[in-house]
Amino acid sequence: EIGIQIAIDGPAAAGKSTIAKITANKLGYTYIDTGAMYRALTYKALKEHIDVYDDEALSQLLSRIVIELSPAEEGQIVRVEGEDVTEAIRSQEVTSNVSAVAAQPQVREMMVEKQRLLANSKGVVMDGRDIGTAVLPNAELKIYMTASVEERAARRFVENTKRGIDRSMEQLCQDIANRDKADMERIASPLKQADDAIFIDTTSMSIEQVADTIIQHAEKRK
Ligand code: C5P
Repeated sequence: EIGIQIAIDGPAAAGKSTIAKITANKLGYTYIDTGAMYRALTYKALKEHIDVYDDEALSQLLSRIVIELSPAEEGQIVRVEGEDVTEAIRSQEVTSNVSAVAAQPQVREMMVEKQRLLANSKGVVMDGRDIGTAVLPNAELKIYMTASVEERAARRFVENTKRGIDRSMEQLCQDIANRDKADMERIASPLKQADDAIFIDTTSMSIEQVADTIIQHAEKRK
């Protein structure tokens, strides 16, 4: 058994990575967080004072740095040029600049190529915004996960508290709405549900319920 490809897309803070990690663990698959790759590039760009709207400069940066994703107990460790940036890429500064970086066409083209290589020839759960529509159009299972903005902000609030990030519910709703708008309205592969994706509204579902639903669909497609 080689395993299937599972694509999980949806708006910011919908719980995609939490669910993708659980699903990958249960199936013994590799989990790949593509958002972390855009965040890692954004982190490096900010550090090097590169304009987050400059596609040319960003793609040059991307071609000379190494972004590594390695599996860990708590999901995934992210390294850029050997530096562990797992926590740093979740900062407010990275979060508010990542959608500008991710809107750049050349950057996307390069990222998609890297992501396809990572997904090559094995059971994989990949989460992002364009996995079902652009990265893995032939994935056996595609999920489009969402929840109300208020519910997503509330979940992010709990997560931030654990991380020591201080941001009000009102600010979080605004951050999430801004990021959704940027991701859905960009020209290069915007966030949208693939025609053949299964839609799951997780607003009033538990993590367990969502994970079980996806596993059931995956079992049918193996
Ligand atoms: O999933 P996460 O919130 O970490 O993603 C951060 C940002 O990276 C998203 O808001 C989006 O702008 C970008 N992204 C993307 N395509 C992906 C994954 C993430 O454009 N496949």
